[in-house]
Amino acid sequence: MALYQLLAEEVSAQIQSGVLRPGDQLPSVRRMSSSRRISAATVQKAYQYLEDRGLVSTRPRSGYYVKARLGVPLAEPATPDYSGRVTTVDIADLLFEVLDSIKDRTLVPLGSAFASPMLFPLSKLAQELGKSARRMDPWRTVEDLPPGNAELRRHIAMRYLQSGIKMAPDEIIITSGATEALLLSLQAVTSPGDLVAVESPSFYGALHAVELLGLRAVEIPVSSRDGMDISLLAKAVETGNVKACWLMANFENPVGCLMPVEHKREVVALLARHEIPLIEDDTYAELFFDVERPPPAKAFDLNGGVLHCGSFSKCLAPGYRVGWASAGRFTEQVRRSKLLYSIGTNIYAQEALAQFVKHGGYEYHLRQLRTALQNQQASMLDAIARYFPSGTCVSRPRGGYFVWVELPQQVDSVKLYRRCLEAGVSIAPGPLFSAKQAFRSHIRINCGHPWSADIDRGVATVGRLATAEEIIPAV
Ligand SMILES: Cc1ncc(COP(=O)(O)O)c(C=O)c1O
Repeated sequence: MALYQLLAEEVSAQIQSGVLRPGDQLPSVRRMSSSRRISAATVQKAYQYLEDRGLVSTRPRSGYYVKARLGVPLAEPATPDYSGRVTTVDIADLLFEVLDSIKDRTLVPLGSAFASPMLFPLSKLAQELGKSARRMDPWRTVEDLPPGNAELRRHIAMRYLQSGIKMAPDEIIITSGATEALLLSLQAVTSPGDLVAVESPSFYGALHAVELLGLRAVEIPVSSRDGMDISLLAKAVETGNVKACWLMANFENPVGCLMPVEHKREVVALLARHEIPLIEDDTYAELFFDVERPPPAKAFDLNGGVLHCGSFSKCLAPGYRVGWASAGRFTEQVRRSKLLYSIGTNIYAQEALAQFVKHGGYEYHLRQLRTALQNQQASMLDAIARYFPSGTCVSRPRGGYFVWVELPQQVDSVKLYRRCLEAGVSIAPGPLFSAKQAFRSHIRINCGHPWSADIDRGVATVGRLATAEEIIPAV
């Protein structure tokens, strides 16, 4: 991150935390430059950057002031109803259309599943990648077959240990991203035709995995505060038909909710009592805004029934395709299927990540990334409050980089998606996140990109089109 961005992020964090309040004057450019021993041009650039993000404004011959927050915070989306209906999953062509559209960098990426690649230490990682390719002992191409690079597995285990979670390196299998870890885990515990409890709304990758393995889904409602409703999960489990549960306890995609620690403990105990394995998708856990990493459900696993899956894709190395499964009592099964399914994970990428994590750049990067994401989310929530039609509700996650928006009922999010594309903006329409194609008036918005005039314009466009009459069907 450039020096001016660092300064801007610092000031912005002070605004978000309330240290600097609406109407407060920022230190003058001259004062900031001499107290920080940085050039006046750098301070000026930082202040302009904050102005572009709508956080401060200039008053002629007076300086920069913190802007008033517009509007009261919006309400959170309602928790969906539970039908208990079992669904065979058929991923619509719409998903592939949306996924293809996010490759187009001319679109404002509000529908993307990825954070801005510019937020990651790609050049430092490239140096490690170069070194690993030049220096690696050729025998490692064989030795690092599943379960994978021993040093990397040790560092992953150590990071869990720092958060008080015991995870033996021997239980960890390196995979090609969390996607492979999740798929192999689900496959290890189910047979075609089995019923899997999933969240509603849920990550389309989970629905795709269910479809690919010929399984069926029962959707358990998620509240934007607490995540999956555990009393409804208990009800589904008591039918005796559920063979596995797929859960994102930390910063669920798309809602962003964080399951309270007590609920995590209860879910694990409930499933253990019924001998139902839990597939835990913990892909976003490192992107927390509070002081500590929230524990995974795996932390409460007493009998090896939790197959915990993580990844570096969202927090350090997009494109490297390195993730892992810590599969409890199913470890050997997952290791074998990994070997047969894809032989191994790119060994140079594994080594580069092991070295990066070992040399200590990781924690520093994560701190910057979390601050950036938190600020971006605050700017996004402000913009949504400003531009979206009245009656809009939005989730306010404490981590990750998505918000889940419930638009007024008449808005059809698939039509809205098409209109937005024509206007140069992508959004992720609600039906992508449901086996029953529900959530017709919901959208998922990505806050993983630094705030800019383009993003602001993009949010304004979505708001304008959502309000426009054409997408509201005649009654
Ligand atoms: C909830 C969730 N799980 C898993 C993944 C896949 O992670 P990876 O890129 O490591 O395969 C994603 C990616 O979008 C995701 O959002």
